[in-house]
Amino acid sequence: MNITVIGTGYVGLVSGACLSELGAHVTCVDLDEGKVERLKQGIMPIYEPGLEDIVVTNHEAGKLDFTTDTGAAVAKSDAVFIAVGTPQADGQAEADMSYVYGAAKGIAPHLKGYTVIIDKSTVPVGTARRVAEIIRAENPNADFDVASNPEFLREGSAVGDFMRPDRVVLGADTERAMTVLRRIYRPLALTGVPVEECNPETAEMAKYASNSFLAAKITFINQVADLCEKSGADVEDVARSMGLDKRIGPMFLKAGPGYGGSCFPKDTNAFAVIGRRNGSPQHLVEAVITANEDRKRRMCERIVEACGGSVEGKTIAVLGLTFKPDTDDVRDSPALTIVSKLHEMGARVKAHDPMGAEHAQAIFGKQAAEICDEPYACATGADAVAVVTDWAHFKTLDLKRLAATVRGKVVVDMRNIWDADEAIANGFDYHCIGRAP
Ligand code: UGA
Repeated sequence: MNITVIGTGYVGLVSGACLSELGAHVTCVDLDEGKVERLKQGIMPIYEPGLEDIVVTNHEAGKLDFTTDTGAAVAKSDAVFIAVGTPQADGQAEADMSYVYGAAKGIAPHLKGYTVIIDKSTVPVGTARRVAEIIRAENPNADFDVASNPEFLREGSAVGDFMRPDRVVLGADTERAMTVLRRIYRPLALTGVPVEECNPETAEMAKYASNSFLAAKITFINQVADLCEKSGADVEDVARSMGLDKRIGPMFLKAGPGYGGSCFPKDTNAFAVIGRRNGSPQHLVEAVITANEDRKRRMCERIVEACGGSVEGKTIAVLGLTFKPDTDDVRDSPALTIVSKLHEMGARVKAHDPMGAEHAQAIFGKQAAEICDEPYACATGADAVAVVTDWAHFKTLDLKRLAATVRGKVVVDMRNIWDADEAIANGFDYHCIGRAP
């Protein structure tokens, strides 16, 4: 099986490397010559645990190659994955589809023999048909089908998510295309992974519906957390009790500062637009979007309240800038809103993140926060410490040492990572999420 993957971004690179690991011969195509050269040398453009290993091994074994030559790669392929970005269009809620359509145009003239074009990017319902129209218009004689095979990869565990997924969703209209898709994923099916076969629209919808549902689950527990704070309940215990019900399940019930990242915010917005366009508004998802935006702002107010009503002239140490641990991605991270707002309100912000500091500073600007290399330096002289991302090494910080470095003793732990009793015993005025400290 020869496969081309168009786009060596996060999804394309992980998918290409994992498909080669599953046994296919994969060529990853990118327009960026420098990136292609670096990949050939084993230099990864993103941080993703385990990725470098499988890229290097499969490249050395001749099963994974990188090129800028779309034509040569496509011509020899049985399947071509489109894994380019679908960013939120500027100032709009919907996805910018120009890269996907551009990739379709680029593929069309080079198709030789029967080829399945597979949308891997998260795309609005109906995209497979639109991609087929584009290819047909460019190359009326091409023998092809367009299928949808959405990804369900989480940053930080993408390789494991690809190799051991909860399910694989294959959306195709013809038996011929479905046969190719089945062959690609046969090694996973043999290990017992459920494979869902459906039409392309269903596969496209399954992706948006899954991400929107998970975003709703997080938002639900965040709102329950607010109520817990007012009523004396403990959100961690509430979530555990809820999660033991098999119909609910324990995952994605961790209250925090709101979801961020490159997927949930973008996909919930796009899903809401798709709903309205189709005359079927997704009221629940729309409420989730608003509630999550409010929450990020509210988190900043929590710091202000904990500091006695004002942060003006105060020094706030922000621990964690990425939207979650084990990634350098800060896109739509709650920390960005928090840092910018604190800065606007006249606070001096110090921030530490083991991987995302540079990216964050590029977004909120050099003036907004002073970046520190490690957490204790960040906390030194601060009036308050805010934990925004649950990096593992924050959990094991020596609270006694931390208490000795800070000036004020306020802690706002937005991920409930520290033991309240220990924090209080070390003299902290400890604030957490969804429960009494
Ligand atoms: C998400 C989905 O989990 C993947 O299945 C999907 O493939 C991916 O989007 C995508 O569409 O590409 P990801 O954005 O990497 O993956 O991150 P998650 O681990 O899902 O976390 C998203 C956000 O929710 C983070 O800000 C995290 O802190 C927050 N979160 C997650 C919570 O606040 N509480 C939870 O219980 C879980």
